[in-house]
Amino acid sequence: MIIAIDGPAASGKGTLGKQLAAHYGLRHLDTGLIYRAVAKTLLDAGHSPENRARAVAAAEAIDPTRFHEPALKSQAVGAAASLVSAIPEVRKAVLAFQRSFGRTPPGAVLDGRDIGTVIFPDADVKIFVTATPEVRARRRARELREAGDRVNEAEVLADIRGRDERDSQRAVAPLKAAPDAHLLDTTHLDIDAAFRAAIDIVEAVRAGRKRG
Ligand code: DC
Repeated sequence: MIIAIDGPAASGKGTLGKQLAAHYGLRHLDTGLIYRAVAKTLLDAGHSPENRARAVAAAEAIDPTRFHEPALKSQAVGAAASLVSAIPEVRKAVLAFQRSFGRTPPGAVLDGRDIGTVIFPDADVKIFVTATPEVRARRRARELREAGDRVNEAEVLADIRGRDERDSQRAVAPLKAAPDAHLLDTTHLDIDAAFRAAIDIVEAVRAGRKRG
């Protein structure tokens, strides 16, 4: 089974992805980490995140064993990731890795921006997670604070709005819900309630398949 979860920054899709994967015994890939890892490679080497040639080289050499590094979660790396992810050749370079991850038995939950539209248009279940920018900024600020970053919530909100704009306006694989995605608005849901709502969606889709 492949479950595709898409949505904007800090919508809760990463947490949901992890929980759904554990619940169904599937592998989990937070695909934002791919673009964050590419961005961090460039920043560490002193290159601009808009340097196409360097970004493509970094994308071709991604190392998933480094995806757990806490430094990937910083705000600076997130902002640079939004820039490298708009480079079409970068997206092309990391496409096969995502498909092969998902197709490896027993299947996977992948979360990102284009999973249900580009990476797995035939995913068994597609969920598009949303929440208002204000709620997402509050969640992201809490996360960053817990990770030891000094944060200003107004700045986090401005960053989230900027990323929403860039991620949804870019020419290649923009952030948008697939026509057959199930919408899940987590604005008024805590983590447990969002998880239960996601399970309801997966179970409804599976029940529908069995009947059909
Ligand atoms: O979900 P995140 O904040 O870790 O993502 C970091 C950046 O990567 C985000 O600005 C958009 C980009 N991204 C993408 O373009 N496609 C994906 N499938 C996942 C993330």
